[in-house]
Amino acid sequence: MELLAIYVSPRLQGNSRILLDNLVAGVTSQGISVERLFLSQLNIKFCQACPISEPGRWCRLEDDLLPVYEKVLSAKAVAIGSPIYFGSLPAQIKALIDRFQCVWLAREKGWLTLENKKPGVFLGVEASKREDFFQNARSIIKNFFATAGFAYADELFCPGMEKEGDVLSRKDCLEIAFQIGLRLAQRCR
Ligand SMILES: Cc1cc2nc3c(=O)[nH]c(=O)nc-3n(C[C@H](O)[C@H](O)[C@H](O)COP(=O)(O)O)c2cc1C
Repeated sequence: MELLAIYVSPRLQGNSRILLDNLVAGVTSQGISVERLFLSQLNIKFCQACPISEPGRWCRLEDDLLPVYEKVLSAKAVAIGSPIYFGSLPAQIKALIDRFQCVWLAREKGWLTLENKKPGVFLGVEASKREDFFQNARSIIKNFFATAGFAYADELFCPGMEKEGDVLSRKDCLEIAFQIGLRLAQRCR
């Protein structure tokens, strides 16, 4: 797997899924392999703030996130498609991000070295047209990328998307997502 595509929304035919699918289509059109992760199908516990990080071992909680650490850390690129909930990121992705505290600790203690050069992309949708909501989400995603070894490389934000599938009428957004996928594929080589 070269690109890890993380789908955040519980709406499996939702706007962020459609956008991320278009990005994925751009990536796979260039022969790059993709693994899709649907967060709503995973059981992810909340971080318990344990102060311990051990070399060679990630979080002590046992749930569906355990295999995700290796997927994120070994991917050549990551793309996240998410709606805005209450002015920021949904709990589904925030739970995953908080659980990367063990990765942050491992880097802090020198057990793990990452260069933060791999590209990370964020696609966001919201019903309103609030730029500040997107900035909130972007700030958290940037922080996550920097912890997990990625550089914030590209983004697309589509406001005014309320009902499932609204984005299908925004051919411009669909095309931009595909183009971002093409650019990302170049960086996965
Ligand atoms: C719990 C919840 C909270 C939401 N909060 C916001 C919000 O703060 N601002 C906004 O513009 N849209 C908000 N929305 C609307 C979604 O962002 C919007 O419907 C989006 O298109 C959903 O993306 P999806 O189709 O990929 O699930 C919220 C939706 C839900 C379910």
